[in-house]
Amino acid sequence: MAIERLVEPTAAPGDTEEERIEISLRPVTFDEYIGQEHLKNNIRLAIDAVKKRNDGSTLDHVLLYGPPGLGKTTMAGVIAHELGASLRVTSGPAIERAGDLASILTNLKDGDVLFIDEIHRLRRAVEEVLYSAMEDYKLDIVIGKGPGARSVRLDLPKFTVIGATTRTGSLAGPLRDRFGIIHRLEYYRESEIEQIINRTAGILKTEIKPDATELLATRSRLTPRIANRIFKRVRDYADVNGDGIIDTAVAKNALELMEIDYLGLDPADRNMLKLMYENYGERPVGLTTIAALTGDEATTIEDFYEPYLLQMGLLARTPKGRVVTEKGKKHLQKIKNKV
Ligand SMILES: Nc1ncnc2c1ncn2[C@@H]1O[C@H](COP(=O)(O)OP(=O)(O)O)[C@@H](O)[C@H]1O
Ligand SMILES: [Mg+2]
Repeated sequence: MAIERLVEPTAAPGDTEEERIEISLRPVTFDEYIGQEHLKNNIRLAIDAVKKRNDGSTLDHVLLYGPPGLGKTTMAGVIAHELGASLRVTSGPAIERAGDLASILTNLKDGDVLFIDEIHRLRRAVEEVLYSAMEDYKLDIVIGKGPGARSVRLDLPKFTVIGATTRTGSLAGPLRDRFGIIHRLEYYRESEIEQIINRTAGILKTEIKPDATELLATRSRLTPRIANRIFKRVRDYADVNGDGIIDTAVAKNALELMEIDYLGLDPADRNMLKLMYENYGERPVGLTTIAALTGDEATTIEDFYEPYLLQMGLLARTPKGRVVTEKGKKHLQKIKNKV
């Protein structure tokens, strides 16, 4: 879809003002990282154990999964910071050949953290090199070609991989098995999103009234990235149309302008539900059919639209496909009567 979605849960691309702000909002320590208590407690314990042992052992490899915008990349940074380690950042699609991975690995130092975003998109040949590297910190490389070729085993530093993925289903079993800590990030509570909004307001030096914080929190899809993004747009609105203070009236008007409804859905979400319901009623619809209806990639629907709609019970997954639920149907009717 060509239009830029406000609720697009992926990070802002490129070296933009938006990206700069996003980086400035990123929590660096466990204390700044709001919510995900279960995850934090587990990792904190593991880090404390490594520090206490102090025998040169490193943190187990960590796999973080869950919908975009919930704080996986941020958590990788926090873990590295709390370990006092340096962080190397790469991603599945960025590592094109096994040789690229080999050069990343041989440049690591003991204790370093290697963050691999979108780890489910690693190429097979690269994945295989990664297995043995993660398993016993060895790198097997073949030197030369043909009959003269020989295999050499290199020692690697003791490093920790943090992998992030929106879907564990597409992660090869053997790779998954190399992670000692596997954790799913959950949608946030509304009260946690409120804390995140207030924190952002503080960093961006903007005054926001408690009622307005509450309102924005209900529209943020329980997702920090979206809360921050909506906050910035509402702040612009307050600067242009008022004295820069965000109160309920300002927040309401700005949300209306963005066409975000009371459940946090934007026009693209509603359009998808509507197309499904109008064409298939209560019958299940396959992912590729939904993609054809909306003109999106199937993976976009699976990664970006669907998780929140499922979470809110507007959509359900059945063995035969996705169905618009009773709640989804009611929501469409309610919105139609309103607009
Ligand atoms: N627990 C949190 N507390 C405060 N802000 C958060 C938290 N998690 C994420 N954020 C904010 O949301 C943005 C997106 O998080 P990110 O880690 O990039 O998500 P993901 O990698 O899961 O897509 C970050 O820039 C950060 O400002
Ligand atoms: Mg990320």
